[in-house]
Amino acid sequence: MDISEIETGAVKALRAASGQQELEAFRVSYLSKKGVVPSLLSKLREMEPAERAAYGAKVNALRAKIEELYEARRAELLKKALDEKLKAESLDLSLDGYELKSAPGHPYHLIVDEVTEIFSDLGFKVMEGRDIETEDYNFTYLNVPADHPAREMQDTFYLRQGLLLRTQTSAEQAHALEENADKGELRIICPGKTYRRDDDDPTHSHQFGQIEGLMVGKDISLSDLKGTLELFVKRMFGEKRKIRFRSSYFPFTEPSVEVDVTCSKCGGKGCSMCKGTGYIEILGAGEVHPSVLRYGGYDPEKYSGFAFGVGIERVAMLRYGIDDIRRFYQNDIRFLKGF
Ligand code: PHE
Repeated sequence: MDISEIETGAVKALRAASGQQELEAFRVSYLSKKGVVPSLLSKLREMEPAERAAYGAKVNALRAKIEELYEARRAELLKKALDEKLKAESLDLSLDGYELKSAPGHPYHLIVDEVTEIFSDLGFKVMEGRDIETEDYNFTYLNVPADHPAREMQDTFYLRQGLLLRTQTSAEQAHALEENADKGELRIICPGKTYRRDDDDPTHSHQFGQIEGLMVGKDISLSDLKGTLELFVKRMFGEKRKIRFRSSYFPFTEPSVEVDVTCSKCGGKGCSMCKGTGYIEILGAGEVHPSVLRYGGYDPEKYSGFAFGVGIERVAMLRYGIDDIRRFYQNDIRFLKGF
């Protein structure tokens, strides 16, 4: 067969090869040891030396040409196969994704937000406070002297001598007074965590939230406290709610009161929830003790004020009817979904 005919045949065969198998068959029949091209070369041996050079050059050129065409076709087919594979496997981005649910509000923070809003409307500023306090801010400046039994009323976690996890947000009263002494009037609330060793009582937690409130000015009396708390309770629990003051004792307020709100379940008639009393205790409060004002740089002859401390979980439990304080910390999604 003529060399140029072989070349034409090879070009045709390559073009017809549409897959790796046909391509391999082409390689075997043209380029392998027993293939067309090597068999052309084997003829060199029978030739006259004069003809050999020209013939050899032609066959080598043919081989180079066929190899080149073969490689090109191979690359082309590989690319085609890859393209088809990619097309078949391509991601269908129109499929539905996972639904992203926004986290429901935690009842603890819902209450903080709501209380903050109510008191902001009354001109109270929010202070952040700190969880780690000195004994002075937590006790001494709040009129609790070193050996006073009130320090034991609140089982304290001490970090080292003089340093503790605050047992009450009241510590922030002392900071607020100190920071504002030369500015006179003062209205702050401070929401935050407090810590007490309450290990033998299943209804208490070693960590809970409080919101402290403090108002200082000229002639701030117990009736200002009552009016403010009444407004707070009505916005928080509903217009029908009433409050009552019971006299109590805190070292940093004088007089001191315990504030009760009418029971949500019976409306004040008396039921199992309020243990027949018609009321549920929600917070401690009172007129700021003159010693506390003095410690904070205020002259008790010129200024007076009220303070209160309300338990965040307690308010949330009453507001939402939550029966167990531990639910706040268990991260149970079934509980959290309810808000
Ligand atoms: N700090 C008190 C407590 O934790 C509550 C309180 C705050 C009472 C402010 C009076 C005034 O029990």
